[in-house]
Amino acid sequence: MEIVELARTIRARDPARPGWAEAVFCYAGLHAVLWHRLSHALWRLGLRGLGRFSSHLARMLTGIEIHPGARIGRRLFIDHGMGVVIGETAEIGDDVLIYHGVTLGGLSGQAGKRHPTVEDQVTIGAGAQVLGPFRVGQGARIGANAVVVGPVAPGCTVVGIPARPPAGQPCGDPSIGYGLTHPEEDPVAEQFTQLRAELATLRGEIATLKASQRASV
Ligand SMILES: CC(C)(COP(=O)(O)OP(=O)(O)OC[C@H]1O[C@@H](n2cnc3c(N)ncnc32)[C@H](O)[C@@H]1OP(=O)(O)O)[C@@H](O)C(=O)NCCC(=O)NCCS
Repeated sequence: MEIVELARTIRARDPARPGWAEAVFCYAGLHAVLWHRLSHALWRLGLRGLGRFSSHLARMLTGIEIHPGARIGRRLFIDHGMGVVIGETAEIGDDVLIYHGVTLGGLSGQAGKRHPTVEDQVTIGAGAQVLGPFRVGQGARIGANAVVVGPVAPGCTVVGIPARPPAGQPCGDPSIGYGLTHPEEDPVAEQFTQLRAELATLRGEIATLKASQRASV
């Protein structure tokens, strides 16, 4: 059951070590993720107005705004949560940790893919703004209040505005990408990044085509 999985994640990851009841009843992030499953299902059924209304109710109750179109993986932990905004075409992998005040937003007003894709095990610090249709690689860490406007390599830590690796800190976890110290130079990963970007573009185009088809019916 997802509620148990989410509560277990909270108990494991929050240093405050809440009990089971506290994790289930007192964490807005858990409520927002579960509620999003309903809003997303309505959205995917084509009941878009109802999906939006459902997500709006969740926002009023949790302070966390997740567009019903956003795709969210397993065990997302939104800690504290107030002020989090997750846009329509955002994608979030498994075991991601997001603190309060984070935006996964777009930079342009264009339709189609315009929000970030956050891979597994990423941590996004309080108040960070991640803006645009790029990837934040697996295990990356984004510092509190950073403004990220471009891709982040797997395992990389970035801070500041615009976000960059802290001075003197090599970017990336050497264990990622077959022992390369700079995973961003991994040719296989590069191909994957290109393929994923093309896939994201195609998804955006399909969404635009579907929208225009619906509008013309
Ligand atoms: C980015 C982060 C993950 C880095 O952690 P870390 O690897 O332990 O890094 P360090 O603390 O060793 O800092 C490395 C350098 O980055 C700087 N730095 C760390 N976080 C920063 C931030 N958010 N903004 C700007 N600079 C930052 C440090 O000052 C240090 O710089 P220096 O080497 O010139 O002294 C962490 O600082 C962070 O921001 N985590 C989010 C925490 C959060 O949001 N908590 C909310 C709890 S309610």
